[in-house]
Amino acid sequence: MRIVNGVLTGESVRADSRWGDLDRLRVRSRMVDAVIDEVRGRRIRIGDRWLADFASCNYLGFDLDEEIIDAVHSELLRWGTHPSWSRLLGSPRPCLDIEERLTELLAAPDTLVLPTITHIHMSVIPALAGRGHMLIDAQAHRTVYDGCAVARGQGATLHRFRAGDLEQLEQMLRMIPLGESRLVCMDGVNSMTGNTPDLAGFARVCREYGALLYIDDAHGFGLVGEHQDAAHPYGRRGNSIVRYADETYDNVVLVGGFSKAYSSLLAFVAVPTSLKNHLKVVAAPYLYSGPAPTASLATVLAGLRVNETRGDTLRADLAGKTRRVLEHVRALGLHTPNISGLPIIELPLAHAGDVGAVGEFLFDHGIYATLAPYPMVPRDQVGFRIQITAANRGDEIDQLNDTLTKLAGRFELQQRGMAPPDDRA
Ligand SMILES: Cc1ncc(COP(=O)(O)O)c(C=O)c1O
Repeated sequence: MRIVNGVLTGESVRADSRWGDLDRLRVRSRMVDAVIDEVRGRRIRIGDRWLADFASCNYLGFDLDEEIIDAVHSELLRWGTHPSWSRLLGSPRPCLDIEERLTELLAAPDTLVLPTITHIHMSVIPALAGRGHMLIDAQAHRTVYDGCAVARGQGATLHRFRAGDLEQLEQMLRMIPLGESRLVCMDGVNSMTGNTPDLAGFARVCREYGALLYIDDAHGFGLVGEHQDAAHPYGRRGNSIVRYADETYDNVVLVGGFSKAYSSLLAFVAVPTSLKNHLKVVAAPYLYSGPAPTASLATVLAGLRVNETRGDTLRADLAGKTRRVLEHVRALGLHTPNISGLPIIELPLAHAGDVGAVGEFLFDHGIYATLAPYPMVPRDQVGFRIQITAANRGDEIDQLNDTLTKLAGRFELQQRGMAPPDDRA
């Protein structure tokens, strides 16, 4: 961005900066910065085209669930559209009901809810890091990194370890002088690969070196949970990565949100009650930000009820739909980093420069997916991401698989078992 004759211009972004590829796509691609005109089930209308939506994070289909939609009106009549106090000034009762139910669901010591995960990272990471050391997984979500950057501005030291590399983390922890605090930050279910970390390994190392493990499980909450078996491949109750890994909350701070699987707007941090009370006076959004609107509180409460009654059935159905796509991807010989079977399937291209044309091809075939250009991902991972939800119908999965077959005949995608190409296009 620069100023020419007193006017802000994006030209320099397109021309020179590392954001140029993304900005060009934003201008040229129908799959980026699109306006969605209408929604019917999991089909969306953009202009005069109807497409099957494989870009939403509404994994359980709660956005379309009538029981949840019907729960909103009565809460609006009771609370008005927006309880517009900061939480320190006054919390509407539903916030406390949610915290109570969530604490039980997660089997956590306590929980605190704030409007978004971004609010939590920006305020809780600096509060936990103080002037100590933060060690961040290289693949952690951008919002985690931003929270660490705020903490660095307040005197903490930031270190980065290779994605998932427990050994390197251990070496780094060993170098930190005794008595200096350590906060390890990483994702739970990864938003691009769809994979889960070795949580038990990370928790063990953190405990051994007196570090606090801070996990962003935005995509895992509602999707993965306790007691995995053949009938429940994602586990039960959707109570997030700590329970999925059969771990405890000792030295572990879990952050999650309702904006993905629950199709609402609210987020939580699971901490002991003493830390929760501390955050109530040091985490700025609790003191100064507007709270989540009533409709969100109502859909979270209704979502928690539906999760208890129908959640496991929806997750089993979602696992079956995802299996159909993953099996097809494998049969085509395509590479995807997904080894978890979770409904986040990234398909990297052999040539990064094809991403715009691939997006147009998908759009022309009625498939809406998330493009992953550079610098959102490293150049050798440029491609697109498919997300499946319980609300996607069988014929939409057929349409997706059929389109992937045609796409693989037309463009070069990375192949299974082959090293990514050295393509800097
Ligand atoms: C891993 C991860 N963390 C955090 C966020 C941001 O969540 P929120 O919208 O609640 O701030 C996202 C959203 O896409 C995400 O994928």
